[in-house]
Amino acid sequence: MDKQEEKAAERFTASGFILSAIGSSVGLGNMWKFPYITGKYGGAAFFLLFICCLVVVGLPVLLAEMAIGRGGRGSASKAFYQLSGSRFWSAFGLFSVLTAFLIMAYYAVVAGWTLHYMAESFTGLLFRGNPDFKQKFVSFASGYWPLLWQAVIMLACGAVIAKGVAGGIERFNKVLIPGFLIILVVLMIRSLTLRGAGEGVSFFLRPDFSRLNAESALVALGHAFFSLSLGMGCMLTYGSYVRKEQSLGRASMAIGAGDLLYAFIAGLVIFPTVFSFGLEPGEGVGLAFMALPAAFSQMPLGFLFGGLFFALLAIAAFTSAISILEVPVAYAMGQWGWSRRRASWIVSAVCFLVGVPAALSVGGPLASWSIGGKTYFDLFDFVTSYIMMPLGGLFVTLFAGYVWRGAGREAGLTGGWLFVWIWLLRLVVPILIVLVFLYTTGLIRV
Ligand code: PFF
Repeated sequence: MDKQEEKAAERFTASGFILSAIGSSVGLGNMWKFPYITGKYGGAAFFLLFICCLVVVGLPVLLAEMAIGRGGRGSASKAFYQLSGSRFWSAFGLFSVLTAFLIMAYYAVVAGWTLHYMAESFTGLLFRGNPDFKQKFVSFASGYWPLLWQAVIMLACGAVIAKGVAGGIERFNKVLIPGFLIILVVLMIRSLTLRGAGEGVSFFLRPDFSRLNAESALVALGHAFFSLSLGMGCMLTYGSYVRKEQSLGRASMAIGAGDLLYAFIAGLVIFPTVFSFGLEPGEGVGLAFMALPAAFSQMPLGFLFGGLFFALLAIAAFTSAISILEVPVAYAMGQWGWSRRRASWIVSAVCFLVGVPAALSVGGPLASWSIGGKTYFDLFDFVTSYIMMPLGGLFVTLFAGYVWRGAGREAGLTGGWLFVWIWLLRLVVPILIVLVFLYTTGLIRV
């Protein structure tokens, strides 16, 4: 490959970028967290609040991250350095790389579980014998199988990333993200036609404005941030592969709309299913690996719908995982001069090793290890999602708001829009990020 071809291989096409960024943002957060918090904090009223948070906080930070990436044309750390000439800011970039690396280490564990459940559901093994799905999950997670699935995910992500931006990341997202939507709609039709589906829809969407309060606002804000994959250099790294002629403002809106659409339909899949079988809705592991399998086990062709549902979870997790892994891989290439292939395989291997104790601490041999009452797995989650990600988001916001003068030009904003964006980044967003940080870490109560 000559230099020109090499450069083209490291750039997204316009639609490839949008689909890949949607692939990053649509993840387990959309599938098992968003529907639950919406149901819990006020249905359609919360949904409106979430849209406001997405617009006021999420999109401005998303635009800032992508502009920094494209303006600085480099990995998280290099881009900050190129734009500011300061080692101080490149150290913050490095901090995001570390955050992404740590998140990837345990995200691959959860992604691996979804693959196992997909295989067990399609083969029907999941529904044989003991109908206690809680116990089934515990016995699976406490064994060594999760390590195998975790390795499969790391290998698959490494293989996609090794193929490059155009030939790997973009190509897979272009197939998986539309495919995802088709399966999601099939499952939505199935779940909306179940007897008693209306109760689930009403739990999910019945507007209850009396439940909106400071807590629901902070939950919505925190989720808007997580859902758009902000604060860990992910959108920044993807932004560095965007061509100059593409409008970042329009791309942010498309990504925000895509994220919302997938989350909304996920809610219409999950609640009608859970409610029509009289099960308790919950979030996270309990919802996906315990409540839903119980529902699928009672449904005609449940193995098929269950298999499709876990395939969705696996795709959601996989396209997000690719974007997370790309952050440290881009860093290794830019900073240490490694080839893409070498960086992909070495980073994947080290990430796998760092994630092994996380995999073994969910009921497995390391479950009794705890620091401050948290297992290794919980600690990973807490430190990265609640401490490192908000800090990373804060740096991006302050950098684009106060330090880098060319931010508005790179973002393609002028006049009133530029004014609104800059002041959101300078004042409103930092204050809100700090409030969410204090709330999620338990430093303030509301
Ligand atoms: N946005 C993903 C979700 O909603 O599940 C999670 C995520 C992916 C967070 C990539 C951060 C990231 F860099």
